[in-house]
Amino acid sequence: MVVVSERTVVFGASELVVGPAGASEVDVREDAALVADDGQVIDVGETTEITRAYPPENADIAIEASGRAVVPGFVDPHTHAVFAGDRSDEFEAKLEGTSYQDLLADGGGILRTVRATREASTDELVAGLLDHLDVMLSRGTTTVEVKSGYGLDTETECRLLEAIARADEHHPIDLVATFLGAHAVPEDENTDSYVDHVVDEQLPAVADQGIATFCDVFCEDGVFSVEQSRRVLEAGREHGLIPKVHAEELSHLGGTQLAADLEAASADHLLYATDDDIAALVDAGTIPVALPGTAFGLGEAYADARAMLEAGAPVALATDFNPNCHSRDMGFVQTLACLGMDMTPAEALLGATSHAASAIERTDGLGTLAVGAPADLLVLEAPRYAHLAYRFDTTAVETVLKDGRPVARNGVVPTGGERL
Ligand code: NIG
Ligand code: FE
Repeated sequence: MVVVSERTVVFGASELVVGPAGASEVDVREDAALVADDGQVIDVGETTEITRAYPPENADIAIEASGRAVVPGFVDPHTHAVFAGDRSDEFEAKLEGTSYQDLLADGGGILRTVRATREASTDELVAGLLDHLDVMLSRGTTTVEVKSGYGLDTETECRLLEAIARADEHHPIDLVATFLGAHAVPEDENTDSYVDHVVDEQLPAVADQGIATFCDVFCEDGVFSVEQSRRVLEAGREHGLIPKVHAEELSHLGGTQLAADLEAASADHLLYATDDDIAALVDAGTIPVALPGTAFGLGEAYADARAMLEAGAPVALATDFNPNCHSRDMGFVQTLACLGMDMTPAEALLGATSHAASAIERTDGLGTLAVGAPADLLVLEAPRYAHLAYRFDTTAVETVLKDGRPVARNGVVPTGGERL
C-alpha cells in the first residue's frame, strides 16, 4: 500500500492563534508557522524553526502569511440554514411595530417558512443551502450545525435532514444535523397531539434515517412548555439524539434549567436567563450559546454573556441564521459580541471557535490549531486577530483552509472543484 500524505505549511504569520489560554485569553504566537499533514495539524512554532524543519518549497501547499494573522476556522453551532421562501416583508412589518410572536400567531414567521419549505423539492432545498454555505465559507466558517424544523411533518423533516446530508457531501464546510421537529405547532393542530406526533412518528423515522446527531426544541411561552420539551428531548435521547434547547429567547420559561437537568450539549439564546440558570448550566457542563444577531434583529436586550463568563461558563457564539435573522457572518457576530455583550475580541474568537466546537460536542481539537486538530484555518487580511471583531464593513478573512486545503480566497468560493 502506498501512503501518500499531503503537506501544508503556513508561515510568517504576524499572529497565530493556537487556541484558548484560560477562559478569556487566547494562546497567540508571533511570527509563527503551522504544518499539517493530510488535514491535521502536526506542528506549530516560530517561522524560522518550522520552515527549517519543514521547508515550504517541499510542501504540497505553502501559504506565506507575512504580516497577517492566522486563526482557527469558525464553527457556527446554531443555524436554521435549510428553508425556502422569503420573509423580508416581515422585517418591514416588525419595523412598523408587529412583534415576532404576533406574526407567528397569525400564521406568519416560522409557519410561513414551513408552507414554502413543504412546497420546495429536496433539490431546491439542497441548492439553497449550498448557496448559504458558500457565503458562510467566504466569511471564514468551516463547520456548521444545521437544524431541520421547517417541515413539521415526518416526510418534510426527513427531507430537510437529507438535504443537510447531501449538502455536506457537496461542500467543503462540514455539517452537523439537528432534528427540530418541535420548532412550532403546525396550523390547526393541538400542541399536545403534535408532541405525540413528534415523539411517536417523527423521532423514530429520523432515528431510522440516521442523519441527525442532536435533537432541539423551541421551549417558549406559547410554543412548547418545559414538560412538553422534556418529553421530546427524553424521547430523542432514547433514539440516540443528544439534547439541545432553545431557552429563554423571548421570555423566561425554564428551558435553561431543563437543559441543565438533561445535561444537554447546549442551551441557546438565554436572553432572559437568570443567575441561577447560569449556575445550573455551569454545574451541568452545558454550553451556553449566545446569538447576538437575533437580539440585534429583534431589537431585544442581549443575553448577559458577561455574567456567564464571570460564572466560569465557556460562552459559545452562533449566527442563528434563519429567515428572521439573516446573518451568515461569524465575524459580524463577534463584533456584536464585543459591542453588545461586553465581550473582548479574545472571548469572542473563543466563542466562535473552540467553545462553539464544545457546543456541538466535538472533542478532536476542532476550533483550535493545536497539534492533532483539524487544519481548518483562516489567514486574515489584517495583522491582528482583533480585526475580526473590530471590522464590521466587510470580512477580515482573506484565505480559508479546510483540512489543510485552500477553499476560499478574497470572498470567492470556486465552484466545480477547481483548486485555489
Ligand atoms: O432561533 N426561535 C426559534 N427559531 C428561530 C427562529 C426561526 C424563524 O423565525 O424562522 C430562532 O430564533
Ligand atoms: Fe434558533
